[in-house]
Amino acid sequence: MTQLKSNVGESAGGETHQTAQGNTPVLTTQQGVPVSDDQNTLRAGPRGPALLEDFHFREKLFHFDHERIPERVVHARGFGAHGFFESNGELGAVSRAAVFKKGEKTPTFVRFSTVAGSKGSADLARDVRGFATKFYTKEGNWDLVGNNIPVFFIQDPMKFPDMVHAFKEEPDRGFPQAATAHDNAWDFISLTPESMHMVMWVYSDRGIPRSFRFMEGFGVHTFRLVDAAGKSTFVKFHWKPKLGLQSVVWNEAVKINGADPDFHRRDLWDAIGAGTFPEWELGVQLFDDEFVKAFEFDVLDPTKIIPEEQIPVKIVGRMVLDRRVDNFFAETEQVAFCTQNVVPGIDFTDDPLLQGRNFSYLDTQLKRLGSPNFTHIPINAPKCPVMNFQQDGHMAMRNPKGRANYEPNSWGDAGGPREAPDRGYRSYSEPVEGTKVRARSETFADHYSQARQFYISQTPIEQTHIANALVFELSKVQTPAIRARMVSHLLNIDAGLADAVAKGLRLKEMPKPIPAVKPTRRDLKPSDKLSILKN
Ligand code: HEM
Repeated sequence: MTQLKSNVGESAGGETHQTAQGNTPVLTTQQGVPVSDDQNTLRAGPRGPALLEDFHFREKLFHFDHERIPERVVHARGFGAHGFFESNGELGAVSRAAVFKKGEKTPTFVRFSTVAGSKGSADLARDVRGFATKFYTKEGNWDLVGNNIPVFFIQDPMKFPDMVHAFKEEPDRGFPQAATAHDNAWDFISLTPESMHMVMWVYSDRGIPRSFRFMEGFGVHTFRLVDAAGKSTFVKFHWKPKLGLQSVVWNEAVKINGADPDFHRRDLWDAIGAGTFPEWELGVQLFDDEFVKAFEFDVLDPTKIIPEEQIPVKIVGRMVLDRRVDNFFAETEQVAFCTQNVVPGIDFTDDPLLQGRNFSYLDTQLKRLGSPNFTHIPINAPKCPVMNFQQDGHMAMRNPKGRANYEPNSWGDAGGPREAPDRGYRSYSEPVEGTKVRARSETFADHYSQARQFYISQTPIEQTHIANALVFELSKVQTPAIRARMVSHLLNIDAGLADAVAKGLRLKEMPKPIPAVKPTRRDLKPSDKLSILKN
């Protein structure tokens, strides 16, 4: 056991002075000036007024007064760890990205999070979990900013602020802090049929993971991989936990939250400390234009999955989290993930939600971290050379050296970095044309079939859990019309589910199904069950 030592002395006033002796470092001000007394302010006589010239006191208070930065507008509560990703080379043929070369080991940083709660909320809320990974590759940082659920609530980023406002605390009363069990949340959901597939996942057992170590992760959107010749392959990313998928039910979650609201973060911290490093396999679903044309849903619609029966998941590497952070704020709090951080060999698609995200993260991080130079903070800095002519701004640590801060220039080798046409990032040359329009694609219109497919793929007890969770959450909704509207949606998913929820809520009469633009597929057979759920 570590011996707790203190070089203690007491002064006339009775306060404790621990002084630097032997190897103990000397306490200094931010300017490096050794401090003689950290217990008492400078004053005119022991009982006299404080003196303004006390620079040590003023600096200490000044710094303390400015310790807080804004919490993330969503995913405020999170916990991070360092690790590495090791590629098995399976993607080498379809992507030129260095991170996918056979045997390549890339350092990573992962932050897990809840979405709706504030920074101080409890870990075991029923909520989506963030699973964001920063790969510090040899060709720059690649961020896979995913969730533990493979679909999302909305199809268009225009709705994101409304969705988040509705899910977070109601503006007049400032609660609830971390639950979706309230009128505003269900009002928004029930007026947003595209969210029904996601609702099935969130109110299933997936909504309360046992710990981060037992969680899957998904990139959600369709991305592109691009090979050395410029050929593109569509891809969906999956993280598969080595420990398998495990969850807790609401009653367990309530107890755990009461006893230890830090349960998930403590679990990760303890596991890594004990050397039982959590591990995930990275899987991909790869497909081409032919599949896109043949698939019954639109691969650009983030409210849809591609069943593994149709495109199996291929394992392309593994990630191990083997190092705790040294400092929570410096690393977990200041890390800045962004979907637009891609590297040569990885590219976007026209998924509208993805394109909205590409704008939102950088924008919010300027506010959250306070300077365009947040990429200079060690947790965000690439671990490969970074050279460009961007300069100045608050906290600039990486200004161009020498005379050249522009290009082209005439200064030869002293003129700084230059373009690399052969190795540099090139966007995939996707042919694009269209008429400017503010509209949703018709191919995004079936909001119920995959929700139904998810529901019928659950075991009877899991189906009961979904019904119970919906009854429990909707019973907190005070507006009868909102409860009834939700049951109208459930009728489009499964009559038995709608019936169980209507009974649980003691609805006086069964409402009519919501008219669906594209009716739900009721012809799904047992063989249409999804094996994606059988982890
Ligand atoms: C965090 C916006 C959809 C996963 C954030 C943040 C914003 C944001 C502003 C805070 C970032 C920060 O302060 O650093 C949006 C918008 C979306 C969207 C506008 C849709 C239009 C999604 C989706 C996913 C996702 C679909 C999952 C695939 C995450 C994760 C974080 C996050 C994991 C936390 C990152 C961290 O741990 O620092 N999002 N988001 N978001 N978002 Fe989204």
